Amino acid sequence: MNIVVKAGDISSIEADAVVVDLFEGVGRPGGATGVVDTALDGAISKLIMHGEIKGKLNEVTVVHSLGRVPARVVAVVGLGKQKDLTLDKIRGLAGEFCRSLRRLNCRRIATIVHGAGAGGFEPEVSAQMIVEGSILGLYRFRKHISKEPENHDVEELIIVERDKAKAKTLEKACVRGKILAGATNLARDLVNEPANMMTPNDLAKAAEQVAKTYRLGLAVLDRGQMEKEGMGALLGVARGSCQPPKLIMISYKGDKGSSDTLGLVGKGITFDSGGISLKPSDNMWEMKGDMSGAAAVLAAMSAIAQLKPKVNVAGVIPATENLPSGEATKPGDILKAVNGKTVEVVNTDAEGRLILADALGYAVKQGLSPLVDVATLTGACHIALGDFRSGLFGNNQELMDKIVEAGTGAGERLWQMPMDEEYKELNKSEVADIKNSGGRWGGAVTAAQFLSEFVGDKPWAHIDIAGTFMSDKERGYLVKGATGVSVRTLVNLALAFSKN
Ligand code: BES
Ligand code: MN
Ligand code: ZN
Repeated sequence: MNIVVKAGDISSIEADAVVVDLFEGVGRPGGATGVVDTALDGAISKLIMHGEIKGKLNEVTVVHSLGRVPARVVAVVGLGKQKDLTLDKIRGLAGEFCRSLRRLNCRRIATIVHGAGAGGFEPEVSAQMIVEGSILGLYRFRKHISKEPENHDVEELIIVERDKAKAKTLEKACVRGKILAGATNLARDLVNEPANMMTPNDLAKAAEQVAKTYRLGLAVLDRGQMEKEGMGALLGVARGSCQPPKLIMISYKGDKGSSDTLGLVGKGITFDSGGISLKPSDNMWEMKGDMSGAAAVLAAMSAIAQLKPKVNVAGVIPATENLPSGEATKPGDILKAVNGKTVEVVNTDAEGRLILADALGYAVKQGLSPLVDVATLTGACHIALGDFRSGLFGNNQELMDKIVEAGTGAGERLWQMPMDEEYKELNKSEVADIKNSGGRWGGAVTAAQFLSEFVGDKPWAHIDIAGTFMSDKERGYLVKGATGVSVRTLVNLALAFSKN
């Protein structure tokens, strides 16, 4: 979708649709909405008077212009109560009105900058939200559907700003929004892809593509190299699969004068059947998305490369399938991780922490610090926090605070979970240094405690996205399927570490 900023008056813009807005409880529209209302002979005011337009958040009312303005339709969108408006609601609103207008076959949509002016937000910030929300909300995954969609894609989004002097700063913000949303949609594409078309090798090829396009460093370790490194935990998970495992490292050097490098680690289980501790078959298909952490890291690297912050960042992605077979790791088996610790595998379905143990240990060996991992790690995290927040764990409060802030700015809320010593006790093994499951209670915390054993003394944080990686319905800028969660959080975090 083409994004353009135009200076001028919304009522004279050529497009299929123009979008204006209304706060809840406002009887007489002012500003741009007032101008369009006048051009429509007061049609909007009448609809408000009759109670058809209420201004409730995400309400979209379509008024046909019948030639009174150049656009075929005028959409009036509700902003909700003025005091409750947030930047993330502006993203959601843009997703909603773009989908509504696509259903009406609008190819070119012009919109005012919602939330600026009376809303109190800076126009460039609002413009970025609208661009992000539109690109995210219009996303669809149709790669494997032969039939043409009923409604064609929106081709152009026109952001209309009255003030000519401001239009330039809006353009920059729109570019940023496009990069962030584009990267999120890249992650969604990787996650939505079925596991037979997104094997560890395919994931490595996707990383190659990103590295080539944005000139990033890339190294892919194969099974032999992993053996030399002593990655027994990752190799133990890979044993049951015919697909060779890969360890992908992709790096961005934005601060040549420094050797400090932020390390992003993403769980890349391209399919999680549970292994010998096989999962029930209901909803097992969702486990094609068990590489959502990997997708988030890879996509974030692509956005970072485009935004060029002055900071070094490396992504580490352990990739394998988790399948049962005659050669698969069995409950009771003991594996040795890259840092020398031995792990008793009491449940082969707790495989994410095994591959992350080696990836984190490898990241430490590579000198990366601080470390942030993203993983669809535990069903327990979904149960604890529901669909709306990812779990945050770690050993360093300053780092975790930074991540919460980065997430909030991205519209990706997190919730910090406890890391008390008692939980750690639950991972004690009788026969090895540690076991890979601490049992059912507090499962998200014991999983995080397990990971903490492989980060040495490095500042580290872990984001559990098991509850947020998929959406079962359309909601604001989310659509059914992969959400691309954490991409924008990780990018914002890299920007926060930037020296410019
Ligand atoms: N990939 C799953 C966690 C998951 C479940 C993510 C549902 C997204 C949706 C993970 O590998 C897993 O199976 N975890 C187990 C751990 C248990 C065996 C200790 C779980 O959560 O049940
Ligand atoms: Mn599992
Ligand atoms: Zn898993």
